[in-house]
Amino acid sequence: MNEPIKLAPSILSADFARLGEQVAEATAAGADYIHIDIMDGHFVPNISIGAPAIAAIRPWTHLPLDVHLMIEQPERYISDFARSGATIITVHVETCPHIHRTIHSIKELGVRAGVVLNPATPLSTLEEILPQVDMVLLMSVDPGFGGQAFIPETTRKVARLRRILDDNGLNAELEVDGGITIDNAPELVEAGARVLAIGSSIFKAKEGITQALRIFRETLA
Ligand code: DX5
Ligand code: ZN
Repeated sequence: MNEPIKLAPSILSADFARLGEQVAEATAAGADYIHIDIMDGHFVPNISIGAPAIAAIRPWTHLPLDVHLMIEQPERYISDFARSGATIITVHVETCPHIHRTIHSIKELGVRAGVVLNPATPLSTLEEILPQVDMVLLMSVDPGFGGQAFIPETTRKVARLRRILDDNGLNAELEVDGGITIDNAPELVEAGARVLAIGSSIFKAKEGITQALRIFRETLA
């Protein structure tokens, strides 16, 4: 474990009526990124929030906003998300037939660009784009909802991607998202994950946001 692990609380599981306060609490408790899930009801069977909500969150934290687009034709909305204050925008390879163009249009807006793979999408789909991206996000659930069960095969996929990145001298951040708990987080870090997006295990933790983050931090230290 050579570099510190980044914790990215995923606000999908937050109390949306108290979103600003909860983002501020996660920030004060030592989160590294705020992970924001954008869902369109087409690519995934759920609808969440859009760019105006990101703009509303922006003043509540100084942390990078890690914006995960689970939407069809994400290129249509990238400039909206950039304007709203996104620091990182990730797009699913499953939604991007022209992924070079999409990645470069994110970067041209001064935003860090990443790609996301669903659990059943092979790492080989990354091959041509990997040197261009700042982040790779591996889903450990089929996206769409918080609180789903972690798909255990993800750990080996993380290890394989870590090796590809290291063997090629690439420093894209490796993030994992979905079903992460205090029980499976250590194995993901051991396999080579560097950013963990965590929703219900932080925002719905019975011990509260601050204490939940502290426990993750201590467990992964
Ligand atoms: C799922 C989202 C996740 C979600 C994770 O589609 O991309 O970011 O908020 O929530 P948990 O950690 O509860 O699985
Ligand atoms: Zn997400």
